[in-house]
Amino acid sequence: MNIMNVDYTTKIPNNVNLSEDRQVLKALEGWHPGYMDWWSDMGPEGFQQSLVYLRTAYSVDPRGWAKFDYVKMPEYRWGILLAPQEENRVIPFGEHYGEPAWQEVPGEHRAMLRRLIVIQGDTEPASVEQQRHLGKTAPSLYDLRNLFQVNVEEGRHLWAMVYLLQKYFGRDGREEADELLRRRSGDADSPRMLGAFNEKTPDWLSFFMFTYFTDRDGKMQLHSLAQSGFDPLSRTCRFMLTEEAHHMFVGETGISRVVQRTCEAMKDAGIGDPSDIAKVRALGVIDLPTIQKKLNLHYSLSLDLFGSEVSTNAANAFNAGVKGRYRETQIEDDHRLQNSTYPVLKLVNGQIKRVDEPALTALNMRLRDDYTQDCAKGMLRWNKIISTAGYDFKLTLPNVAFHRQIGEFKDVHATPEGALIDDANWGKRKSGWLPSSDDGDFIASLMTPVTEPGGFAPWISPPKVGIDNKPGDFEYVKIET
Ligand SMILES: [Fe+2]
Ligand SMILES: [Fe+2]
Repeated sequence: MNIMNVDYTTKIPNNVNLSEDRQVLKALEGWHPGYMDWWSDMGPEGFQQSLVYLRTAYSVDPRGWAKFDYVKMPEYRWGILLAPQEENRVIPFGEHYGEPAWQEVPGEHRAMLRRLIVIQGDTEPASVEQQRHLGKTAPSLYDLRNLFQVNVEEGRHLWAMVYLLQKYFGRDGREEADELLRRRSGDADSPRMLGAFNEKTPDWLSFFMFTYFTDRDGKMQLHSLAQSGFDPLSRTCRFMLTEEAHHMFVGETGISRVVQRTCEAMKDAGIGDPSDIAKVRALGVIDLPTIQKKLNLHYSLSLDLFGSEVSTNAANAFNAGVKGRYRETQIEDDHRLQNSTYPVLKLVNGQIKRVDEPALTALNMRLRDDYTQDCAKGMLRWNKIISTAGYDFKLTLPNVAFHRQIGEFKDVHATPEGALIDDANWGKRKSGWLPSSDDGDFIASLMTPVTEPGGFAPWISPPKVGIDNKPGDFEYVKIET
């Protein structure tokens, strides 16, 4: 994407003409010290004085944002970057379909827009908080650098949402911006707003699962908001999506490399049965059944982020022109959905059935279906690695009724195959499907850091190519102790 006219002369790099928008610039500069305090309290633990090879806005060159260079994380230039304005853009769905997109917040939809921006904004610092301890156990400098790239970009996504709040929502926007720095992931009194963002990310396999599954929920939400009739939100989200793609790359290739290493180690040791967990673990790699359990956990937690399958909030946001569907403009229908239906998985007389619901109220379900399809792609790649190594084992996405805390299936228990079971049965079998504390201990035992250039922990394969095409022994992080 061609980002034009980035101004690096203000403290906050931007392409929204902040130097002529004194009031907003002042509000953002006022917020900045609190952000830096948050970063030092809750951002990556250690490494703050290390030089990290990041893609960063480090220069005054208009294309400087996309360049790679060494930077200390606290000196990363978090900026406000919006995708270019599309000329004559119209609202692509809902009751205002075909009307010019809004450049200011429409009064009638103000509260709804603010809520959606705050919820999105809250997830960004949350994931940084969840990942803050991982630097200490990075399997390589390459991975350490990727973690920090994700972290600084999530920080920038927070800036992106705070800009919208401060520019378009006046005093309550500024209050919300402060609240975003006050909540903490997992805090008993003041947690982050969504469940998955209060879970722990205790090890690197969790990190890869998180960036694959949970950042992908972010992708779907950003796509829907990129369709918004509120043009500044649309433009912000379109730019964020370019960064989000890297986060999911980290997840997908991370899991690929773990699977690859496990398969190689099993082959070298002559192990024929990948389910022989003790034998595989003795090799110092993560067995495939445990990878499946981690996948079950992160996928089900991420499904909860889509909210209830049937939702009047989702219908209202669509009608209002505030939040659209995944790839709305490429869908061929009336974009109003007044008379259409969509099949929703529901619990009917103790059975999981597809029931046609009004398409408007089923928008969360539809987005979740799009998400599931998107998730399945990684599954194919990972299974290819396993089958190429000659093993008869398939990683699969669990049924959507499995391990849910929100929506239709929150009050029942289901197996990963989608069979409903009672509490007692669930209690007995769940440690076969979700990571147990023993599994966690085993994975934790492998998490010893590797910090020499070109070195990799024995449980993960090196990547096929380096970041910015750097060679394998490139020093992605110059660690300062
Ligand atoms: Fe993000
Ligand atoms: Fe992300």
